[in-house]
Amino acid sequence: MTIDTEAAGKVLSGLRPFPVAITTIDGGFANGLMSLSAGAASIIPEAPRATISLTKYNLTHDMVVRSGVFVMHLLSAEDDRIEESLEILMTLGGSSGRDGDKVGKLRTKTGVTGAPVLLGAHSYVEARVTGTLDVQESSIFVGDVAAAEVLHPGRRLQIGEAWSKLPPAWIEQYEANHGPQLANARSRRFGDAG
Ligand SMILES: Cc1cc2nc3c(=O)[nH]c(=O)nc-3n(C[C@H](O)[C@H](O)[C@H](O)COP(=O)(O)O)c2cc1C
Repeated sequence: MTIDTEAAGKVLSGLRPFPVAITTIDGGFANGLMSLSAGAASIIPEAPRATISLTKYNLTHDMVVRSGVFVMHLLSAEDDRIEESLEILMTLGGSSGRDGDKVGKLRTKTGVTGAPVLLGAHSYVEARVTGTLDVQESSIFVGDVAAAEVLHPGRRLQIGEAWSKLPPAWIEQYEANHGPQLANARSRRFGDAG
């Protein structure tokens, strides 16, 4: 059976427009990445949950599996905050923690879970993982919210606005970073021949 991937893209693309910065800590090392997989995962207002999907290729994935904690940050789109938002996005989303400390370049405080909270973010929730779904190339994590704070009220940054303001040289670096990740995902899903 062949799939109309163009139609699938029309249904599935852009469903989660807010890029989020995910941080965690494991064995004393703090790390994080950017993600477009963030969602709310509870209908109980007094017991909120958050969900993210991380690719196994990424270091942050294994760190969240081991530590069981993550912080999900929204970024600000306000004129006086956008520069720091793009800095966070480029720092966490353009290279791997395997190649060097990324979180140490950003302003942080330690959250209640022990994971770093990014002080330049719009807002955040800290979460303790309550369930994980393994789907070959990635894992979907659901976490109980342990703390939440709005740091800089105002508009939240959406990915379309971010792409329009990111420097072309960084976008090239992101694409170079994305290639091996995609190859790894295909290999995990279809086997090495995939
Ligand atoms: C806008 C944007 C969205 C991304 N979405 C995801 C995502 O949903 N899940 C994921 O695992 N990686 C995602 N990535 C890729 C990671 O942020 C990137 O591979 C990062 O360098 C991984 O770092 P790490 O190896 O230190 O964990 C995204 C990157 C960008 C820039």
